[in-house]
Amino acid sequence: MSPKVAVVTGSNSGVGLAIVRALCKHFGENGAVYLTARNEERGMQAVEVLKKEGLNPRFHLLDVNNVTSMEKLRDDIKTEHGGVDILVNNAGIAYKGNDTPMCEQAAGSIKTNYHGVLLMTDTFLPIIRDGGRITHIASLVAPMAYYKMSEELQQRFKDVSTVAGVTDLMNEFIEATKIGDHVKKGWSDWAYGTSKLGVAALTKVQGENMSKDTSKKDVLINCCCPGYVETGMTAHHSGAQKRLTPDQGADTPVYLSLLPAGTTDLQGKLLSKRKVKNFFEEDIRPITFN
Ligand SMILES: NC(=O)c1ccc[n+]([C@@H]2O[C@H](COP(=O)([O-])OP(=O)(O)OC[C@H]3O[C@@H](n4cnc5c(N)ncnc54)[C@H](OP(=O)(O)O)[C@@H]3O)[C@@H](O)[C@H]2O)c1
Repeated sequence: MSPKVAVVTGSNSGVGLAIVRALCKHFGENGAVYLTARNEERGMQAVEVLKKEGLNPRFHLLDVNNVTSMEKLRDDIKTEHGGVDILVNNAGIAYKGNDTPMCEQAAGSIKTNYHGVLLMTDTFLPIIRDGGRITHIASLVAPMAYYKMSEELQQRFKDVSTVAGVTDLMNEFIEATKIGDHVKKGWSDWAYGTSKLGVAALTKVQGENMSKDTSKKDVLINCCCPGYVETGMTAHHSGAQKRLTPDQGADTPVYLSLLPAGTTDLQGKLLSKRKVKNFFEEDIRPITFN
């Protein structure tokens, strides 16, 4: 039996590292699980952590802001394994505090959190095998940002039906933050939330497109929220809300990555705690993370 091949972006720490751990445990000798990082030293340190636990991830450099880096990983995997079975688009950034101007936060968040996901998916789709599972790590901040928007913008996110249309919405937000009238135009004042809303809308469109794509069999694209997880991203947060461990946060991403063959009801969805959150179709407020 050929090994299952999995790629997890931004997996040198936090939720991504925990996803690699869970996939390595699941597949054992029957898997080739790629822990990827944009920094070789941090990546190799993470590999060592898992090796000490008796696991055997592979390592590859990958910067999701760099298409050449994505193509190198894709081509190396194609040469060695012929294709990929699981792709988890986990890499993400969040600005801490308000020191960075809003227009920079908008451009930076959307570059990594939205375009990183879109470009990785487009780069890897040609080598995703039948039965493949593509999972983007979005967040429940996506519906939160959505509910903070004007009704007109909400309708546009509901109606958007092409990838170019979602990208146009992301660009429109960036341009409005440059002028500084994004709130007046109905956007939320929240770069991270808007970038994750972009991922949720992208997933919806990618799922619809995949359902019509006869060149692939049984390939599912979904996104999820890992919960509120104790990681480098949330380390500066204070407050009483309990945080999950990274291994707990990996549960829904791993569930989606291992959906059994022939699953038909999960395509283009946002999930939290293994449950679909259809916020484009119904009001899911109040939103609780854990
Ligand atoms: N923690 C939460 O409560 C929470 C809640 C909802 C959603 N999420 C999402 O979960 C995902 C994982 O976040 P986390 O909480 O585990 O935070 P984290 O520990 O900070 O992990 C983020 C990872 O993304 C990597 N990364 C950032 N930019 C990259 C790039 N250009 N190329 C490749 N890797 C890059 C980081 O690498 P470096 O070490 O090199 O920076 C790091 O390994 C993110 O998408 C985040 O938005 C987290």
